[in-house]
This record gives sequence, C-alpha cells and structure tokens, in this order.
Amino acid sequence: MERIPMLMKTAPNDITLTPLPSSSLSSFKDEKPRKFYDMRHLLPTKSPVSSSSSSTNGLIINNYGINSKNSFMTRLCCHMMKGVQRNIQKCVAALVLISFFSIIFFTQYMDSSPLVGLIHRDTKPMPLIHCQTLNKSPSDPSQTHDHRSEARLRIDSKVLVFVETTYSKLGREIAEELVYNRIKYKIEVSGKSLPVLTNLDKGRYGVIVFENLDKYLSMDKWNRELLDKYCREYSVGIVGFMSASEETLVGAQLKDFPLYVHTNLRLRDASLNPFSPVLRLTRAGDTAWGPLPGQDWAVFQHNHSTYEPLEFAQKNTLDYPNDNGIQPPLTTVLQDHGKLDNIQRIFFGAGLKFWLHRLLFLDALSYLSHGQLSVSLNRMILVDIDDIFVGERGTRLKPDDVHALISTQSRIAEMVPGFRFNLGFSGKYFHHGTKEENLGDDMLLRNVDKFTWFSHMWNHQQPHLYDNLTVLMNDMMLNKDFAKVKNIPLDSGYSVSPHHSGVYPVHELLYQAWKNVWNVRVTSTEEYPHLRPARLRRGFIHRNIMVLPRQTCGLFTHTMYIDRYPGGRDKLDESIQRGELFQTIVYNQINIFMTHMSNYGSDRLALYTFESVIKFLRCWTNLKLTSAPPLQLGEHYFKLHPEESDPVWGNPCEDARHLKIWSRNKSCDSLPKFMILGPQKTGTTALYTFLSMHPSLASNLPSPDTFEEIQFFNGNNYYRGLDWYMSFFPLQNATSSNSVHIGGPSSTGSTNARYFFEKSATYFDGDLVPKRAHQLLPNAKLVVILISPAKRAYSWYQHTRAHGDIIANNYSFYQVITATDTAPKPLRDLRNRCLNPGKYAQHLERWLAFYPAQQLHIIDGEQLRLNPIDVMNDLQRFLKIAPIMDYSNHLRYDSKKGFYCQVINETRNKCLGKSKGRIYPEMDEKSTKILQRYYLSHNTALVKLLKKLGSRPIPTWLKNELSTTT
Ligand code: A3P
Repeated sequence: MERIPMLMKTAPNDITLTPLPSSSLSSFKDEKPRKFYDMRHLLPTKSPVSSSSSSTNGLIINNYGINSKNSFMTRLCCHMMKGVQRNIQKCVAALVLISFFSIIFFTQYMDSSPLVGLIHRDTKPMPLIHCQTLNKSPSDPSQTHDHRSEARLRIDSKVLVFVETTYSKLGREIAEELVYNRIKYKIEVSGKSLPVLTNLDKGRYGVIVFENLDKYLSMDKWNRELLDKYCREYSVGIVGFMSASEETLVGAQLKDFPLYVHTNLRLRDASLNPFSPVLRLTRAGDTAWGPLPGQDWAVFQHNHSTYEPLEFAQKNTLDYPNDNGIQPPLTTVLQDHGKLDNIQRIFFGAGLKFWLHRLLFLDALSYLSHGQLSVSLNRMILVDIDDIFVGERGTRLKPDDVHALISTQSRIAEMVPGFRFNLGFSGKYFHHGTKEENLGDDMLLRNVDKFTWFSHMWNHQQPHLYDNLTVLMNDMMLNKDFAKVKNIPLDSGYSVSPHHSGVYPVHELLYQAWKNVWNVRVTSTEEYPHLRPARLRRGFIHRNIMVLPRQTCGLFTHTMYIDRYPGGRDKLDESIQRGELFQTIVYNQINIFMTHMSNYGSDRLALYTFESVIKFLRCWTNLKLTSAPPLQLGEHYFKLHPEESDPVWGNPCEDARHLKIWSRNKSCDSLPKFMILGPQKTGTTALYTFLSMHPSLASNLPSPDTFEEIQFFNGNNYYRGLDWYMSFFPLQNATSSNSVHIGGPSSTGSTNARYFFEKSATYFDGDLVPKRAHQLLPNAKLVVILISPAKRAYSWYQHTRAHGDIIANNYSFYQVITATDTAPKPLRDLRNRCLNPGKYAQHLERWLAFYPAQQLHIIDGEQLRLNPIDVMNDLQRFLKIAPIMDYSNHLRYDSKKGFYCQVINETRNKCLGKSKGRIYPEMDEKSTKILQRYYLSHNTALVKLLKKLGSRPIPTWLKNELSTTT
C-alpha cells in the first residue's frame, strides 16, 4: 500500500531513512501478523465423567444378564432381588425427600449449621489489587501536577478535533470522552479548509487533536503552515494518534521529524514514565500486565532530545517467538517537547481502546493547553445501600456481614476521608429474616451512628402508584415512626425512591410528601434525562429538591455471588480495574452509587467492588478522593454545574423505562399534538378560536393567570412541571393507556381521538422554548403566523397602550422604536418587545434547529385575515385532521367588525372581542420608513429561508415590503 508520502518506508534505496540505532528493532523486520500458536495441547483434557457413568450403568445391566440362567434358585434369587430392589428404590426416594427437606430447613432456619457452610462454599473475593505503589500515598494534587501557566490565558478551553469522517470510530470515542469530562470541542473533518482559529487576540482552541496523525503530516502546505503558526503563536499543542493501516511499517520516518515508527505490533505490559511532566491525573503506579488490546500498535523510535517517552510496552513474546531474551521497552506514547519547531506534541501509538490512553489523553490535553483544559482532580464518592431490612431470607445481612461492613468502611475511610455507607431503610421488613439475619438487623441498629441513614419507602412501594397525597404521606410517616423508635437519625434531608419511581418522570405527590414528612432537600436518580448514555446523565432542581445524577456500579439486587456474576468474575474485575466503574469515577467529580443490602451479604460483592476500585484508583491516578453527606454533595454539585439547576422535561412515552414508573393515570394523550407558536399580534387568537370550533380538536383548559394561553415552555410556568402542564389537557376517559398518538388522532373513538392543541404566542421568540418543546413534544406540529413585522410591531405598541402601559402612553411609537441603548430600561424593554419578535428568520432558524421543516406550517397572516376559509382548509390538511370541516359554513365576514367571525345563525355572528381588531391611527410615515430599513435584512433572510424550505409561497406582504425598500 502506498502510504502517505511523508511516511517513508525502509526500502534499501530509500535514502531518507536514518539507520535505526537500537538493535532491539531488528526483530521487527520480518514481522507479518502471525497466527497465534495452537495452545490446545496445554488445555486440560476433557473430563471423562459422562462416558464413565454411562458405561457403569451398562455393566450393571450386563451383570443381570450373566446371572439369569434358568435355574429355580436363580429365579428365586431374581425375585428376591427384585423385591429388595423395590425396597431400595423406596428407601432411596425417602432419603432424597428427607435430605431435600432437611436442606431447606437448615438453610432457612439454622443458618450457622455446618451443613449450610458446606452448601454455601465461601467464595468471597478479596479486594487485593496488585500495585507497587499502593502503600505510598499519592502526592497532594494541589501541590504538584499543575500544568497551569500564563500561556493558558490566551486560549479558550475548547478542543479542535480533526476526524477522518464524521462516523470514524476513534473520532467518536474522543468526542465521547470529551463529553464525559464536559470539555467543549469542535469536530472538523480532515482535509477541508481550517476553521477560524482566533477570536480577536485569543486562540479559540487550547489543543488540536488529530484522530489520524497522517492527516496532520499530509496537510497541504498552506493549511499546515497556518496551523503550525497558530500553535506557535498561542502555545497550543497537538495530539496525534497513529492510525491502524494494512501496511506494516518498519522503522519508517515521520516526515520532517527525526522520528521512526514501527506499526502493526502486538504488545503487552504497559508502564509509564514516572518522570514525565505530562502526568497529572495519571499516576505511574504499576505495570498494566497482560496483552494490550488490538494488534495494530505503533511504537516510536527517536534520536533527539526533544522527545521523551510517556508510555512503554513490551512485545508480546508469544506472538514473536524468535525474540529471545529480555527486550528493552518500546515507546508507545511519546512527548515532543517542541525543541525543534516550538510546537509541543504528544503522539499515541494506539487509540483509546486501551484504558491508560484514556487517562493519558486527558493529561495530554491538560499539559498541551497549559492547564486551560485541566480537569479537577477532586472526586467525591457516596455509596448508598438501599433496601436495608428488605429482602428474602437467605439474602440478608448476618452479624458477621455487618462486622465486615463496618471494618471495610473504616478501611475505605482511610483512603477516602469522610467515607460512610449511606443506608436507606424500609422499616416494615425489619426482623423478617432468619434468626441469624434478625440478629444482623439488630446489629445494624446497635451501630446506627457508624453510618448515615436515609428513608426509603416504608413498604418499598413505588410512589408513582399512589394518587393520594395523604395515603403516601401516611406510609412515609410509618417509616418515620419506625426510625424514631429505633434511634435512626431523621435529618439527612436525603431520600431515594424505589426504582427511581416518581423522581423522574416527576410525580408531584412524591415531591410534596417528601417535603412534608421528611423535609427532603436532595435525592438521586439514574433516569434523568435517561439511563443511557451514562455520560449524559445530569442533575436538576425541582420544588427546591436537588436531584443528583446517580452512577451505575454493576451490582444489582440479584448479584450476590461472585461465581454467578453475569459474565463471570472477569467481567466485574474488568469494570473495577480499568473498565466502566473505574472510568466512571475518573470522569465524574461527584459519584453517587446505588447498591442494595443483598450486595453486602453472601459474597459481599459491594465491599469487594468498592474497596478494590478505590485501591485501583489510588494506584493509577492522583485523584483526591473524599466523601460527604448527600446534602453537601448536592450543594457542591450545583455549585459546579449551576447551569443544570433548570430541569428539562422529557416525554415519558419516549423512554420505556420512564413509562414503567409513570402513573397509570397519566397519559401522553394528555399532551398537545400541535402548537400555535405566535408571534403575538399576528392573528393567533382568531386562529385559536377557529380551530376550537372543530369537533376533532380540543384546546387546553384556560389558565387563571394567562387565559387561553398556558405559556408553559417560556417563563416560570415551566418550573411547575409536567403534571401541571398536563392538567390543562384532561382526558375524560381516565383509563386511557399510555399509548402515543402524536402525529395523528387516536383510533379509540373516545375523547382521546381529539387532537389537543395549545396556543401561546410568546413561544415563537422565546430563547429556550424550541429546545424545551422538543424535549417534551418531539413529534408535535408547529404553526406560525407571519404578517409584516412592522405592522406587528405597531399592533403590539397599540396593544400595550390600550392596556394602560405608562411608557407606551408617554412615548410615541417613533420614540419607542428609535430608543437607544442608553434609554431608560422600561423604554428599552418596550422597544425590544415591539421589534424583536419580527426578526422572523432568526427565530424560525432556532425552531428548525430542533424540529424538521415538515413539522412546521407557516400561515400568511394577511390571508388569515382576508381569506380564513382557505387558510383553515390548508391547515387541516397539514394537520391531517379528519373529517375536514368546511369552514365556509362556519365563518362569515362581519362588516361591522371588519373581520371574519364565527357564524352563530343566519343573522348572528360571534366576533373576537374589542381587543382584537382594534381601531387606531395608521403608522406615521417616519416610523414606516425606519422599520422598512430596520427589517430589510431580516425580511431578506426570511425569503431565503422560505425558498430553502421549499414549496412555501412567499407572502405578498413580504414581496411588497422588499420591493418598497429596494
Ligand atoms: P389588531 O388588533 O392590531 O388589528 P393576536 O390575536 O395574535 O393578538 O392578533 C391580533 C390581531 O389579529 C389583530 O390585530 C387583528 O388585526 C388580527 N386578526 C386577524 N383576523 C382577525 C379576526 N378574524 N378577528 C379579529 N382580529 C383578527
């Protein structure tokens, strides 16, 4: 394969190649990927048990055959033997039964008997982590590992990632790691022109990452010089990953660098250079023994002092049997100090599949950005033990389990200051175990002050199943009374709901009951916004209760024995030592894990898991682990992430797990199928009224504060929650299922068959509205009405005047729209409310960033005023409403009102009130001119947008406005 020109192969006539200095590399020369050796002869031979047992049976039958000669004695013998055989069979059957019942009895009631010991072989794993440096305490992260320098002040904390394609695997892994660590990034496909790199005198990116180093080396001269110039001027470093290729390179030189690579290697036993200045989060704790993932590693060889190895590995001797003796370590990650060209770089010989590279990647970002992209080294850990006192006999804690719990807790606390297990109890099941397990319950209570406690539900019932606040509170009170009697502390301010029920999706009754009974201030869930992907779990605050994201640790109620762990012990160990659990703590500053009481009995897998992972973290990272009670964690969390305080309400019907913990009395049918977004003063009330006349449609109930508009997605109503919003769309048929019919009416024929819709004219230009609306109603259709933005502004001014607004009454329209930024705030506010909604293209673009264009219907407001019958027919077709209602029978022009109105009977119409279709003087000429100019660019953008959206007519008013201005 002809690799990129700058990677020069070691062909004899390739004169650019510098001879390789190390003898160790000679052995690479003939390396083609080899097959693994046939190791089958080393495996134990197959057990012959099955064949021997069947042959034994065969022998018995055969013996009978030998003895069955025709003599009387023989027959007598046979007869007697048959009798004996029958008795033996009976005896054996009786024995089996007795043994069976004895085992049941002993395991259930006599749990300390030797029999139980025999049945339950002790398989408890020990938290032993192989680590040379485990007992040396990690250095104080605040003292060392600081990459910060003045240079960081000139760059933004953002990474520019060049990927091969938008779908490439390593590119995705890089992005995922950045998301997990909340590091901002921009993805660019290599080969295109460079994005803008600076913003005034600041660099936009702190580090440049190349998913494929070749793409950096093969950049065209112009772009390469531009990028290198940027890196030099802003002291920005480059990370490059050697990518796998079919061709095996042996000592190929990297263009323009005194650096050689060997590729497609299989390696093992990675270790780090403990003196590397790059190490910050990562600690050179030990050797990562064993084969490294993948068969396409690259190693670097260099002969210049600008290079310093960061990671080494060994060749996998099983794969390279000709290499006898000890091999010197090979450099798998290399730092370029930039002595040659003033650009610092870090080269990786393989991607992020290898766990140490994930850590080193974070350190590389931190180092190369002079600390601008450093992640915090502080990690807080809280381990909840749910279901205390709950659980089947045989799965609960015995006194020695409680001992183990306490002693592990103190060992962990030595490594994690402040660590205490956080116990969630359900009092109803106290003393429901075997004799010995009941002693375990007592022992927990004797040691009540050694732990922190929180209330679970009294009977472990899921709160979303309650639809009566008093009943829910009474159940909580039972647990509180239990806690008082047993001296369990009541003031943790924390609670957790069984199976996340009621926390998210929010069941308002739970939040109210928690407040009233327990004064809960903080809880945690894995479900917000969704269980997966875990890197996107977030927190929010609702009704003053902080909801923290909870992390997964791989233990569930039923994981009690190591040899029955799903996927085997290796799977759990993999998660602890380098895998999911380890990385969860590396990536999250605040970790709340849920475990269950059953994980602390039997093989005590939770004790094993947490002690092991903490040791592994100490071995391989410089993270400073601490713990604190939940309330402190909550406060700390929202200090770190204040932007998460606001919730985002998702659609429970879009997530099967959410549906399972959503009240049966709630239904997605209680959500609107379409929304009229506004903007204000374009005829939204008329449209709303006309639609409400349709028998297949039902609008929301009126709001006491905002009349026909709910105004949920903008402003403070959003914090009232989903239950509040849905209460505006009551289903008459309360037994409705949670079926989703968004996009088309339900076929049930009940009231649910009606389309719910809402109109809130402030949605159109609300900044947060499109995102919020899309989270809840991704399939909703959107209706927008547009009139001349100048007319709209004037109508709004008249509207505020009519409502007695002092500013509108004291200032002329011209004064309002020409008010400068130095004008008094109320005047500026009125100016903004007049002008901003009319920047139609801008607002529509924001909606279209969330919704596909097919879900958006744009009505020409002039047509709505002059020819509403056609407008309504078009709209019905867009909404796919059946049956289509012929509005010509229901709307009639009312000459007195000057607008179309609803037909009541032959002589009577029902028109909109006085506030709609007001009579006011025409706009003055100066204002008209000013607004024509003001909206020119916005109107031009609107025409462009409408054309881009396709098959949408350009409204006549828009054509007119543009022709007048030009
Ligand atoms: P004016 O009162 O300035 O004339 P909204 O309901 O969104 O607040 O819009 C009010 C505007 O709707 C009115 O503005 C009026 O021009 C327009 N409109 C359109 N059709 C109407 C109708 N059939 N009856 C009353 N007003 C109508």
